[in-house]
Amino acid sequence: MTFPVSDNVAAMKGSSTLIAAQAAADMRARGIDVIDLSVGEPDFDTPDFIKQYAWEGLQKGLTKYTATAGTVEFRRSIVDFFADRFGSHFDDANVAAACGGKQALFNAACTLLNPGDDVLIPKPYWVTFPEIATFCRANSVFIDTESTGFVLTADQVADAITEKTRLLIINSPSNPSGRVIPASEMHRIVEVCAANDVYVLSDDCYLFFAYPPAEPFSLTSLPDELRHYVCVAGSFSKTYAMTGWRIGYTIANPEWTKAMIKLQSHSATHPTSFVQYACAKALQDRDATLAAVKTMTAEYERRRNWLIPRLNEIKGFVCPMPEGAFYAFVDVRGLLGEKYSSSADVADALLNQGFIVVTDGAGFGADGFLRFSYATSMANLERAVEKLKGILGTTTVVSA
Ligand SMILES: Cc1ncc(COP(=O)(O)O)c(C=O)c1O
Repeated sequence: MTFPVSDNVAAMKGSSTLIAAQAAADMRARGIDVIDLSVGEPDFDTPDFIKQYAWEGLQKGLTKYTATAGTVEFRRSIVDFFADRFGSHFDDANVAAACGGKQALFNAACTLLNPGDDVLIPKPYWVTFPEIATFCRANSVFIDTESTGFVLTADQVADAITEKTRLLIINSPSNPSGRVIPASEMHRIVEVCAANDVYVLSDDCYLFFAYPPAEPFSLTSLPDELRHYVCVAGSFSKTYAMTGWRIGYTIANPEWTKAMIKLQSHSATHPTSFVQYACAKALQDRDATLAAVKTMTAEYERRRNWLIPRLNEIKGFVCPMPEGAFYAFVDVRGLLGEKYSSSADVADALLNQGFIVVTDGAGFGADGFLRFSYATSMANLERAVEKLKGILGTTTVVSA
């Protein structure tokens, strides 16, 4: 028996990051001790005080529907937090709660795009971006950013815009490259888009994971006339180690926000009521929240500082220092030739010979690259590096 999957969904590809995670899970189920460097998920637990707030919400009986846009308290907490942290000026009418960053992105894209519109997506990209465009029957138009070290520039955007361009999707710090677009360039990118009546969807999933001297920059701090063109898709998942809680938000102009609320009223309705309560309280409890984020960011930075020089010692690996997120995006094209014909082959060798799970770059539009997540323990990273050296060998540089 076959099932007639809709054209919109049939045209979408499955998530390559989840395929790698599944490979790890299958091996684990067979009793194999895998080193999983494919996961895009913090290895920290949710901070205790946020769990306490969720329990407080439950005790208060917050177990019923809320407004589709989210509670007033939740939306205000976002407004106040961004005003405080980034000097942004927007209000409740700009904010809608969503069930995670993914739903925020879907809401934003589905309320803007029409069939046949062009969506600019810088390469390498997070796997979901082109699939959202496909779902909306829009066309993904990729911008190659290799010449600028995977950092999108306003000139590249200007060159790519045509009459058909409706939306640009950006993600800084980036999954998978870890690159951060400098604030001044972000500003110019939005200026170019606004001048051409192109909207910008900014996936701020890793906003707070920018390592000094890189700094988190929120497009919500732009002047009103530019902000009109921007929708920020925010998420609590990575920043606060809350992936399973499924909560995020959008910050966009009031009309765009209303359209997203209308769409969401016919799908998820809203994120879990007591989770909204916990997140609002956490954002109000600013010092505790920022301290927790700082601790996690410092640990990711420590791992990054340890890992990247070691990866560069592996024969055939080239990896510039990522400025944010928790991924190393390694150029393995130096290994391709007789033994390996693609980065997927290299990933397979690491899996089969070392039980190391990494994600092939092809799913991110970057064949020839591998993504290593360092959202895992130092012990795992140390074991992985030892095994990589055994499988691929080292260059002559040996670290102290
Ligand atoms: C770049 C990026 N955006 C969005 C998400 C979605 O996060 P969530 O839906 O858990 O908020 C992820 C998760 O991996 C991501 O890497």
